[in-house]
Order: sequence, then structure tokens, then C-alpha cells
Amino acid sequence: MKIKNEWHKDFFQNSFYNPASPVAIERAPFEVRFILKQLKLKKNSTILDLCCGPARHSLLLVKKGFIVTGYDFSKEYLKEAKAKAKKLKLDINLICGDMRKLKFKDEFDAALNMFTSFGYFPKFSDDIKVLKGVNKALKPKGLFLIDVINSDFIINNFKKTDWLEIKKGVFLLQEHEFTKDKKGINNRWIKVSKNQCIENTFFTRLYNKQTLSAALKKAGFKPLRFWGGFDGKKLSIKTNRLIVLAQKNK
Ligand SMILES: C[S@@+](CC[C@H](N)C(=O)[O-])C[C@H]1O[C@@H](n2cnc3c(N)ncnc32)[C@H](O)[C@@H]1O
Repeated sequence: MKIKNEWHKDFFQNSFYNPASPVAIERAPFEVRFILKQLKLKKNSTILDLCCGPARHSLLLVKKGFIVTGYDFSKEYLKEAKAKAKKLKLDINLICGDMRKLKFKDEFDAALNMFTSFGYFPKFSDDIKVLKGVNKALKPKGLFLIDVINSDFIINNFKKTDWLEIKKGVFLLQEHEFTKDKKGINNRWIKVSKNQCIENTFFTRLYNKQTLSAALKKAGFKPLRFWGGFDGKKLSIKTNRLIVLAQKNK
């Protein structure tokens, strides 16, 4: 399967995909509760939501009294986030940019990266660039919570093809294959409805506890805790999430 370089530019558009599905929106308060329980931040702490999408977590965090910056590449999702914030009269800082080019320095008490918004680049060095950017953006001893798919689960439950009905009459056909080095997965998603059939391909680098810890350490973090879900369940090969809480070394 051939994956377009910079695939994210086509993939994250409303005409194809929006991460804030009704199910994902419903899950967000539960995820935010877990995040805040683990981060133990003071009111008015500053939070960076890296790859915030339409800000389903960011806006809940603003409501709780935090100063939030949502950062994302997709202008469409940021527009949606801005409109929601306006409607709810919530104050949020939204920035459009590439996660490999973060320009912050010692600004945030904590950073989040939610719903597998990491591991998108064919070059591993780009993933490290992202983590180093987050590290630099944090204040000394700042916290970083990252939530990705758990590669140990994926390898044991690999499905070459799959399909689901995402809303009435709209189907998503999925095709997956491991990259030659087995370090990532190439994916093809085909969205089919009565009048339309559109497809996109994308790449996700696979991380498990060991490889994500190593990457975090390389970028100046100390991994502190691991979970397999936002209910706090223990990480294992049976959990499809890998959630890590890490701390900036200094
Ligand atoms: C799976 S979505 C998750 C969105 C959000 N965190 C959530 O949980 O709803 C991944 C997000 O990463 C953003 N993204 C993809 N590539 C990016 C890049 N190179 N730089 C910044 N954001 C990017 C997308 O626009 C999208 O909003």
C-alpha cells in the first residue's frame, strides 16, 4: 500500500473524517476526569492540548478553570473549536501549526496528546522532534499525558480488513498492513455512502510501553505511570490503549 507523504493534510478534513464523533464527544468528560485526577493541577494552570482537533477535551478543561492552548494542523477543526468556544462563552487560545514545529518555551504546566495523535510520520526522527518540542514547551517538571493505540494489542488482534457503519447509511471499510520493518501500520480507509466513495491512506507508527518510554526518554522525559484505559485499568496486551504520564526531567 502506498502512503502519501504528509497524508494528514488530506485526511483530517470534515469531508472525510472528524475525530469529534458523537461517541467520542460523549467519552470526553470521562477522559478529562481521569486526566485531571492524574495530573493534580492547580486552578489556572496552563495546559497545551497538542493535536486538539475540534477541542473536545480542551473546552472541558477551560470550563474547569484551566488556561488552555489548543494546537492543531486542521483549520477546519480549529474553526469548529472556535465556534463552540464562542457559543459556550469560553476563552481558549487556538493555534494552527504542525506538531513538528512547536515554538513554545517553558510555557505550560502540562501537555496532552489524545486519541492516537502521535506516530504519524514515516521518519522516527520526526516523532522525536514532536516530543522534544513538547518537552521544551513545558515548564521545569511539567507533565505530559499521551494516549495512543497499544501496539502489543494490535499485533495480537491484527485484522487485515474491517468495516463499520459510522452513521446510518455511511460505511467505513478499513484495510491494514504492517510495514516491512513491522514498526508501523499502513492503513486504507474507504468511506462509502449512497452517493459517494472516498478513500485515504495513512501511516501510524506502533508504540508499546517499551518503545514509547524509550522515545520519551530520548526527548528528555521520565515516564512515570502507564495505564491501559481511561478507567485506570492496568496496561496489558489485552488493552487497546496505551496511556503514559511522563515528566519533563528539568
Ligand atoms: C485522531 S485526531 C484527535 C483529535 C483530538 N485530540 C481528539 O481527541 O479529539 C488527530 C488530530 O491530529 C491533528 N494532526 C494531524 N497531523 C498533525 C500535524 N502534523 N500537526 C498538528 N496536528 C496534526 C489532526 O488535525 C487531528 O485533529
